[in-house]
Amino acid sequence: MTTLAFDVYGTLIDTHGMIDLLQRYIGEDKAMPFAMLWRDKQLEYSFRRSMMDRYQPFYTCTSDALVYTIDAMGVTVTAEQQTRLIERYQSLPAYDDVPDCLDAISQRSDICIYALSNGPLEDVKGLFDHAAIGRYFEDIVSADEIRKYKPDPLVYQHFLQRAGSAAEDSWLISSNAFDVIGASASGMNSVWVRRSKQQHMDPWGQPTHTIHSLAELAALF
Ligand code: 2OP
Repeated sequence: MTTLAFDVYGTLIDTHGMIDLLQRYIGEDKAMPFAMLWRDKQLEYSFRRSMMDRYQPFYTCTSDALVYTIDAMGVTVTAEQQTRLIERYQSLPAYDDVPDCLDAISQRSDICIYALSNGPLEDVKGLFDHAAIGRYFEDIVSADEIRKYKPDPLVYQHFLQRAGSAAEDSWLISSNAFDVIGASASGMNSVWVRRSKQQHMDPWGQPTHTIHSLAELAALF
């Protein structure tokens, strides 16, 4: 049996899916730089909290990063607008290539599909319900279960234990270079989903495979 662990934010779910609200609140020119800084800071807070052993749920990293980004970019976002942005984070869209990819792979009896995310179980289930993709997953494994964040090896080891899968039979599917490198360091195979040329792999990362759309994934197995 081959086990696939899909990363969620940035791989299945588009973390820039609130760009329309940002364009309305802070203008077209600042919206994408804001969204990118917000995501980078959200991840940085997860790394720092994990290293400091000061765990807080991923939505805390997300809301703290929003406050930081508003201040750093010197823009005005009202409390009501911040609430709307955080609410939107609970219902971000899936990328267009996700449903057909999951549908194709779910037909395979020799492949088992999981989600592996920093997001708490309820948040990920909410995203999957909104995107109508929950039915494809054997289970959702959350870093929240062990109060550590990716790329801590404990997260990938926890996944392998929960999925009952050996590292050599398991593949992390992610758009996030830090996640690909983290999984590889834990002995898993990895597929880097590089949808945009603006995404870059770190010099010390060697994904097992690189694809440019999830439409290419099924053919790898
Ligand atoms: C995840 O979903 C943060 O993309 C990362 O775990």
